[in-house]
Amino acid sequence: MNGDITQSQEWAALGKHHEELAGRHLRELFAGDPGRAGRMTADAGDLHLDYSKHRATQETIDLLVALAERAGLRDRIAAMFEGRHINVSEDRAVLHTALRLPRDAELVVDGQDVVADVHAVLDKMSAFADRVRSKEWKGATGRPIETVVNIGIGGSDLGPAMAYEALRDYADAGVTARFVSNIDPADIIGNLAGLDPATTLFVVSSKTFTTLETLTNARVARRWLIDALGADAVAKHFVAVSTNAGKVEQFGIDTDNMFGFWDWVGGRYSYDGAIGLSLMIAIGPERFREMLAGFHAIDEHFRTAPFESNMPVLMGLLGIWYADFFGAETHAVLPYSQRLHRFPAYLQQLTMESNGKSVRADGTAVTAETGEIFWGEPGTNGQHAFYQLLHQGTRLVPADFIGFAEPFDDREGMHDQLTANLLAQTSALAFGKTAEEIAAEGTPADIVPHKVMPGNRPTSTILVPKLTPSTLGQLVALYEHIVFVEGTVWGIDSFDQWGVELGKKMALDLAPALISEDPPTAFPDVSTEHLVRRYRELRG
Ligand code: F6P
Repeated sequence: MNGDITQSQEWAALGKHHEELAGRHLRELFAGDPGRAGRMTADAGDLHLDYSKHRATQETIDLLVALAERAGLRDRIAAMFEGRHINVSEDRAVLHTALRLPRDAELVVDGQDVVADVHAVLDKMSAFADRVRSKEWKGATGRPIETVVNIGIGGSDLGPAMAYEALRDYADAGVTARFVSNIDPADIIGNLAGLDPATTLFVVSSKTFTTLETLTNARVARRWLIDALGADAVAKHFVAVSTNAGKVEQFGIDTDNMFGFWDWVGGRYSYDGAIGLSLMIAIGPERFREMLAGFHAIDEHFRTAPFESNMPVLMGLLGIWYADFFGAETHAVLPYSQRLHRFPAYLQQLTMESNGKSVRADGTAVTAETGEIFWGEPGTNGQHAFYQLLHQGTRLVPADFIGFAEPFDDREGMHDQLTANLLAQTSALAFGKTAEEIAAEGTPADIVPHKVMPGNRPTSTILVPKLTPSTLGQLVALYEHIVFVEGTVWGIDSFDQWGVELGKKMALDLAPALISEDPPTAFPDVSTEHLVRRYRELRG
């Protein structure tokens, strides 16, 4: 829909429905309709979603689906998959889904055979990864590579770092990976500690190859290597992933050792392409392609399933239900897998850089809240930290619980304990415990109010057979499309990120003032001037 979705009949109907439903407890919804447990589910690929513990009825879902239709979601999905320029502020197609198209698929965009391009890069990555993994690729001293250090930030770091952690049990060639992102020297110094330059390969990952943090860290890494092995060693110890061949060459990396992608892949949607090179070296091309097949399975589900049973559509619409009608400010994502400990951080960029916008695609101001604030930690660690607020705090925090049936390791019944915790938490959040129930246990009257568990706290449970390359790809694609659904309803451009530019430019302008011998001049504001003066006094 062009214009303001909040002025639509569908939005108004949801507002009215919210007034009727807001006062009803999940206990009541389940008592009146026990069948909802089996019915309010969806399956996509290997993912099973239980959304019965949401403050929603079938009527809610019908009204939300009507809102999605009104927002033109159907056409927008087609537009994305066809490569229309839906990133309007940058006049670009949005085609991360093409990164996982099978080789025999067809997609020509702006006159270019996208599938052939994608597979040419995947083949080049695979050949290189195989050479490193088989120890055919030798460092400058003739020794094989043992550690890959990915240097990148944002989408050029969070994706491969998250996925490497998730899939490290599949790293089977004796090559480990490390990830350096921050301009804080502690990051690169800490990560280089203990490494042998002769067996280290740097993958400098930057879509633009202009990002200050990445290029600075890459220069530090190059100096570290040259000091140990001499300048000629760079060719054997540095490769690049970028869309910018000119800058890669300027940095001194041979473009034969560059792995490309395209401006139609957003940084935060890019680790399933060349940005995933460090991951591919660790787990191997075959596993990497299994991951791509997992992504593709969810793409196909998203593209073809009716909205009523479409997992990303349902989850995206429920996100809007809480953000815009219940006034929820944040959304927790709670993987019950230590391997997914970087998943919330990865999702923060995916969701918040995409949907943290206050104007619509046509430049007019939005009139509803956008951009859920995503956060989380793996269970059960979170339970012993912040779940108290989820259970008894005053805020409503919808949460996604992600669990895996097959254990990563079966000792001491630990995995079943982990899953029991997941199930217990979602049940306690939904149904709580009443004052009567607590009093009946003999709790003193003055303590009863402290122990009341209000319940009525909404959750999704995503149950997955096992954490594998394929199911990881499925999970990531699920959230990519949830972001898309929400962005479409809000009418915003989910694929630009202009809001990060001003601060970057100001930091560049300010840096000289921090180290100059001259008196500080030209500050953006007096508070900053004050802090710079103080910093200079303290820095010595
Ligand atoms: O500053 C934000 C951002 O542009 C992200 O969108 C991107 O993922 C990150 O910086 C890194 O950019 P690049 O890959 O070009 O170095």
